[in-house]
Amino acid sequence: MKPLNKIITNKDTSFNPIWIMRQAGRYLPEFREVRKKNPNFINLCLNDNLSSEITLQPLKRFELDAAIIFSDILMVPYGLGQSVEFKKNFGPILGNINLNEVTKIKEIDFVEKLQNVYRAIKKVSSNSNLNNKNTIGFVGAPWTLLVYMVNKQSPKKILKKDFFKEELLIKKILPILEKFLKIHIKKQIDSGANIIQIFDSWAGLLNEKDLPSFVYAPTANLVDYVKSLNIPVICFPREIKNYKEFCNIVKPDAISIDYNVDPKKIAEEIKIPVQGGLDPKILLTDIETLKKEASKYLDIFKDHPYIFNLGHGVLPETNPNMFDYLVKTVKNY
Ligand code: CP3
Repeated sequence: MKPLNKIITNKDTSFNPIWIMRQAGRYLPEFREVRKKNPNFINLCLNDNLSSEITLQPLKRFELDAAIIFSDILMVPYGLGQSVEFKKNFGPILGNINLNEVTKIKEIDFVEKLQNVYRAIKKVSSNSNLNNKNTIGFVGAPWTLLVYMVNKQSPKKILKKDFFKEELLIKKILPILEKFLKIHIKKQIDSGANIIQIFDSWAGLLNEKDLPSFVYAPTANLVDYVKSLNIPVICFPREIKNYKEFCNIVKPDAISIDYNVDPKKIAEEIKIPVQGGLDPKILLTDIETLKKEASKYLDIFKDHPYIFNLGHGVLPETNPNMFDYLVKTVKNY
């Protein structure tokens, strides 16, 4: 059985596997090297030779238990025909949505556009570096994708004031997203992904009253779908105030937590396997602090099925030696 399945399916508490969000990324000089020669991020994701190579970069350096495929949650809006561009020091910029076109898009054309993402997963999952390790496929949750598609750029801390005035757009896009997210999930699994993570990076932006219709219902629908394919599903509803309520309603197989939530409270309140939590900024300090803070999470979740990860993606300014120290700390705990 693969390491993450031992935790999620068997509820093993005798060890803690580790993988890190954005483990293939800008903190690695070998990634920056490839990136420099490939200024168009979407094209890089669609180059299956390069994206599979990038996915494997951190596994060649560190004793990680899983690969997460080098792609992006915004590949789905791209597959739906919306333009997506990554501007340096700004983030993603999306074009206008042509609702007429999006409504008419066919499964075969969507899959064709993203074919190389699936090819990359095939390459990675059959690579010898992945023997006895997990290959993680992922999607953005419908809410987070809706935010990018309608807001057309990162909402940072504020959603544009008239966001919900786009009622018609939102009503029409949500079901289309649900349909194509399922297709994207299925294709990733057919290509070798054996865990699915759902990233809801902007779950924390919503008021409590909007959570049921924008987060709980659409995410539960995807969770049920992944479960029907017999693949474990991890949810990361970043900065949601009430993780317990989320778990009770959405019922993921495991829950990934951010760094603002109290891990002790999570360990007490939540019965399903937990992942993550450590603040990525701790990797910018020193080895003593890193060891202390990582051990804090390992101690708190000592009797809980727990996958080690951070509370958000690893920061580009992280020293790879600190990353290595973290992996070793978890492995030697
Ligand atoms: O985790 C991994 O290593 C797998 C690959 C992965 C990427 N993005 C690669 C990437 C995954 C799982 C994502 C998810 C993703 N993408 C999320 C959810 C997680 C989160 O961060 O909250 C979101 C919101 C996005 C959208 C996105 N893509 C943003 C906001 C950015 C940052 C833009 C910037 O300039 O920093 C990206 C770009 C991106 N996606 C990078 C990587 C490695 C950096 C691209 C670069 O090299 O410039």
